[in-house]
Amino acid sequence: MRIDLAGRAVLITGAASGIGLACARAFLAEGARVGLVDRNTPPVLDGDVFAVRADVTDEPDLADGVAAVARHFGGLDVVVGCAGISGPVGRPLAETSADEVAAVLAVNVTGQILVVKHALPWLAKDPSVVLLGSDSAFTAAPGMVPYCASKGAVVALTRALAVELPGVRVNCVCPSVVDTPMARGDLGSILDAPGFPVQAADDVARQVLFLASPASRPINGQAVLADFGMSARSAFPA
Ligand SMILES: NC(=O)c1ccc[n+]([C@@H]2O[C@H](COP(=O)([O-])OP(=O)(O)OC[C@H]3O[C@@H](n4cnc5c(N)ncnc54)[C@H](O)[C@@H]3O)[C@@H](O)[C@H]2O)c1
Repeated sequence: MRIDLAGRAVLITGAASGIGLACARAFLAEGARVGLVDRNTPPVLDGDVFAVRADVTDEPDLADGVAAVARHFGGLDVVVGCAGISGPVGRPLAETSADEVAAVLAVNVTGQILVVKHALPWLAKDPSVVLLGSDSAFTAAPGMVPYCASKGAVVALTRALAVELPGVRVNCVCPSVVDTPMARGDLGSILDAPGFPVQAADDVARQVLFLASPASRPINGQAVLADFGMSARSAFPA
């Protein structure tokens, strides 16, 4: 399949680690030009790369970072919102503070809205936005209320942005557990248990590249749930 991403200018938030970093490598492998935006310094990557430090929860800081990347490349074709935090995963709601809830929403929800807002003036023809949602938008485990709420919001804001922004395709990918520093920090060696359904950051990067590419041209306002079919099972005893 032709993916047609060579030469495209791509901005990725959360590009210093995990899925964002895997996306950066995958876009570079396709010949794209990649702007890395993260509050941390990303590793050195081969290819046409421009990195800026910015916090997606700090609007002036993020606006400056997005503008710096867009000016460097002369516009933006693709925006990928990967920056995210899991927050107090595994903690009962009764022990979760309002500040902790706000911190998760600030990165996972407001940060995604703000990166699109500040990329808008720089978007080239037929741009694509791909946001990181999660299967936690659709299914829940105990001890994840703020994170699940934030990812449900990503699915809703994906639809809202697709409707709000004619000519801009906006989709989100919603993976189940991905082997990244975030998941390792929350789940540890559970990820290595035989048969545990875990995907690699590179798997998610391929889903992101498809949605970023003209190959997915008619797909807009959608959440792609990639969970090995875990959420498809009914309670019917057969
Ligand atoms: N790992 C999983 O199992 C999984 C599953 C589904 C969805 N996701 C989502 O994928 C995205 C990437 O997660 P990951 O697993 O690669 O995590 P990660 O911790 O490996 O990477 C997240 C990156 O986001 C950056 N970041 C966090 N807060 C930021 C902020 N305020 N400003 C700028 N950068 C910030 C971090 O510095 C880091 O580089 C997140 O949105 C996450 O919710 C992860």
